[in-house]
Amino acid sequence: MTTDIRVLVSEDDLLAAANVFRTAMIGFPRLTGLAPGQITTLLEPGRTIGAFVDDQLAGTADAVTSTLTLPGGTKVGHAAVTHIGVLPSFTRRGVATDLVRHQLHDVAARGEAVATLRASEATIYERYGYGVASSSHTVEVLTARAALRPGVAAGGPVRLLDPTDIWDVLPRIYAEHRPSRPGTIDRPDVWWNGARLRTESGSGPWYVAAHGVPGSETGFVRYRPIDTGTWFVSDQRTIVVEDFFAPDLDSYLGLLRFLLGLDLIDRVVFWMLPVDDPLPWLLLDRRAARVTATNDETWLRVIDAEKALTARRYAGDGAVTIAVDDPLLPDNCITVAISPDGAERTDQRPQLRVGIAGLAAALLGGTTWHALAVAGLARANDPVHLAAADRLFAVPDAPYAGFFF
Ligand SMILES: CC(C)(COP(=O)(O)OP(=O)(O)OC[C@H]1O[C@@H](n2cnc3c(N)ncnc32)[C@H](O)[C@@H]1OP(=O)(O)O)[C@@H](O)C(=O)NCCC(=O)NCCS
Repeated sequence: MTTDIRVLVSEDDLLAAANVFRTAMIGFPRLTGLAPGQITTLLEPGRTIGAFVDDQLAGTADAVTSTLTLPGGTKVGHAAVTHIGVLPSFTRRGVATDLVRHQLHDVAARGEAVATLRASEATIYERYGYGVASSSHTVEVLTARAALRPGVAAGGPVRLLDPTDIWDVLPRIYAEHRPSRPGTIDRPDVWWNGARLRTESGSGPWYVAAHGVPGSETGFVRYRPIDTGTWFVSDQRTIVVEDFFAPDLDSYLGLLRFLLGLDLIDRVVFWMLPVDDPLPWLLLDRRAARVTATNDETWLRVIDAEKALTARRYAGDGAVTIAVDDPLLPDNCITVAISPDGAERTDQRPQLRVGIAGLAAALLGGTTWHALAVAGLARANDPVHLAAADRLFAVPDAPYAGFFF
């Protein structure tokens, strides 16, 4: 079997690739009824690749050019990888492996320091050097019990947006108020176009509210009701918050109060909150909010270990020398000396060794070196080096992107 990987350019090929991905996902409907040219507004030119087996399109992958915030606030070049799928009749023959390897080399050639994706299954991507760099919580709040402590501030004004304004206003709010939290990523235009298509082509109602005065909004929320079959008489009326963008305290409190104060609603389900979200502390009855799931969010692949390690900032005291191993991208096989002053390549003997997937998990501060060592993903000459690395890589805010793509 010969697999040929090609960059897809024509509208027909891009549409075919979109439907290969959707067929592979099984639960996603086929993409039909797009206007001429519309598919090119949903994908970045030059980044969708197809795997042809005996000239049949059998698999695909694509990416979007973006940036990602590292601890300390530096943004690095980032490929947001998505739409990886292989037709069921071609799986387990190495097609995805060919696609992912091709893509990793392309990302490296573009000079991007990291790639990230969201994984449909946790068993797919570690073999290619991806590791879980951030997680999120799904949180359910029972509104009847969700009174806030008297000392919690009011937050600012919130208003529902007119549907005709939404897709102009949201990208502006996000771009103007991009958070400094590690793991934050850009939201490029093709994603907004995709979010609009998915939202507007869905069957049920949905709403967007923004925080702040018109023209200077600072946050927003997108939500929709679920299980509306018996809505009129239900005592379980639930909204799902699909996008909660509250990058500062005022927006957070204003939007939270708006959601918890909605008439009729018994339960608010936040799909994705940061794992260090303060919500339970705000409630007089902290059990009104329940974490119902912890989900792996950012699967990160370090593409340029030297760039990524030197661009992030370090905390604490002490120093550690770490050797990185990367069989797929051998330029990443480096040893780096790290101290609160920064990271630099060194010839010193390493005190810690880590594979590239373990480095990905530690890069944003989302896990401890101690946990990686227990799992066999990092090895230390002496446990004191794990403790030193944990102090250096510690972050004040848990890494989080807050967005699914
Ligand atoms: C995940 C997917 C892309 C893998 O494609 P594929 O062409 O079968 O993958 P490969 O043949 O290159 O497999 C490479 C290795 O990964 C393993 N693997 C692949 N998919 C796996 C999965 N879902 N779970 C566990 N292992 C998997 C294979 O067994 C193989 O292991 P080996 O090297 O030890 O033999 C394909 O199964 C698919 O399209 N799934 C549905 C859509 C999907 O989930 N896409 C990912 C969206 S994030």
